[in-house]
Amino acid sequence: MDQVTLLCGRVLSFVGNPFEAEAPEEAVREYEAVVVENGRIEALGDRDNLRATYPAADLIDHGERVILPGFVDAHVHYPQTSIIASWGKRLIDWLNSYTFPEEMRFGDRAYADEVANRYLDLTAAHGTTTVASYCTIHPESVDALFTAAQTRGQRLLAGKTCMDRNAPESLRDTAQTAYDQSADLIARWHGKDRLSYVITPRFSPTSTPEQLEALGALWVQHPDCLMQTHLSEQTDEVAWVRRLFPEARDYLDTYEKFGLLGKGAIFGHAIHLEPREKDRLREVDASLVHCPTSNTFIGSGLFDMRSLMDAGHRIGLATDTGGGSSFSMLRTMAAAYEVAQLRGSALHAAELLWLATQGSARALHIDTEVGNIAVGMEADFVVLDLTSTPAIAQRSSRAEDLWEALFPTLMMGDDRAIAEVRIGGRKAL
Ligand code: GUN
Ligand code: ZN
Repeated sequence: MDQVTLLCGRVLSFVGNPFEAEAPEEAVREYEAVVVENGRIEALGDRDNLRATYPAADLIDHGERVILPGFVDAHVHYPQTSIIASWGKRLIDWLNSYTFPEEMRFGDRAYADEVANRYLDLTAAHGTTTVASYCTIHPESVDALFTAAQTRGQRLLAGKTCMDRNAPESLRDTAQTAYDQSADLIARWHGKDRLSYVITPRFSPTSTPEQLEALGALWVQHPDCLMQTHLSEQTDEVAWVRRLFPEARDYLDTYEKFGLLGKGAIFGHAIHLEPREKDRLREVDASLVHCPTSNTFIGSGLFDMRSLMDAGHRIGLATDTGGGSSFSMLRTMAAAYEVAQLRGSALHAAELLWLATQGSARALHIDTEVGNIAVGMEADFVVLDLTSTPAIAQRSSRAEDLWEALFPTLMMGDDRAIAEVRIGGRKAL
C-alpha cells in the first residue's frame, strides 16, 4: 500500500457544470485539503479534520496555491511537437509544408520514443496530465507514445492516424493495412493500465471511401473504443470535401455514411458547421473539441462556444499541438476566452477551468476517472501559483474573490504558474 498523502491548499471541486449553473461559480466548491491513497482520491474536507483522521499522512502544504484536477487536452498531435510555431501557412499548405515531412520521421522507433518522451515532459510541465493524441501512420509511433505514458503511470488516449490518399506516398497506408494495424494496436494497448486506443482516420480528404468504411467496420468490432477525426476546420477544406464526396449531404455525412458517427465520436475544430450537422451532432451526442490557439494561428475561424453549449453539445478544449501555438492549457483557456469575446460572449473563469478539466474528460468519456477532484477519482492534480510573475502577482493582489484572483493566471499564465503536478498521486513535477 502507498503512503497516504494529505495535500493542503485551495482545493477546487466541481459539483456541477458551470455552463448550466445559475451562476458559474456555484458549480465549484472549495475545500482545504485532499487525501490521496493508492493513486486515488480518498477524502476531501477541512485540513484539521483530515489531519486528525489520517495522522500518518504525509502533509504537503500549498498554502494559498490552487489545487485543480490535472488538465485534460482533448486533441493533440504529439508528432508535431518539433514543428510547433511554423510560420505563414493555412491548413492544407501547413500540412504539406511542415506536418507531413515531420510525420515521415516516425517510422523510426528511436525518434518516436524521443519525441514521445519530450512531448510528455513538456505537457506535464504545463500541468496537463491526460491527452488524446493522434500519432502518425506508423504503428511504431503509437507504441512509442503508449510506452512512454505507461512508464509514467499516465492516462492516455491515442491512435494510429490513417491516410490512404492526398498525402505523400510514404505516409499512406491502405484500407486493409489501416484496419489490420489499428486492430493489432487495439489488442496491444486498449484497456491496459490507464491507456485507451482511439480509432483515428485523419480527416475525410486523406481517406478513400474504402478506408473510411474499413474503419467504420473496425469501430463496430470495438464499440468501446472512441473514434477521433477532424471536422469543418477551414472553409477551403470544407469546399475540398464537397468536391471529393459530391454525393454527401455535407462534411459530417462523409463520416456518417461509413459508420463513423456516434456517441464515441470526437470531432476536432467543428467551426464551419451547417445547421443539419449541428442538429445531427447533438442528436447522437458526439463530442466537439475546441482548439482556439490553432484556430487563430492557422486562421481557421471562430468556434461558437456559447451557442453550441446552449444547444447542449458535448464540448472539450484542446491545444491541437502543433497546429496550436502552445502546449499550455492556460494559454488555451485565454484563447478560448478571446475567441468567445469575438463571438460576443465572456466565458467565466469557472467555465474555462471546467472546459480544461471535466469538460474535456466528459468529451472523451473518461469523466468518471479524471477531470475532477472528488472521492474515488484518479489523483491527477495541477497546483497553480497565482503570483507566478510580477505582472500576474500585482493584478491578483487586487482581487476581491477567488475568481478574480485566478483570472489573471488563466489569461497571462504559463508553465511558471505550475507549482506542482501529480499523476496518479505521484509527483510528476
Ligand atoms: N486536419 C487534418 N490534419 C490536421 C492536423 O494535423 N492539424 C490540424 N490542425 N488540422 C488537421
Ligand atoms: Zn488536429
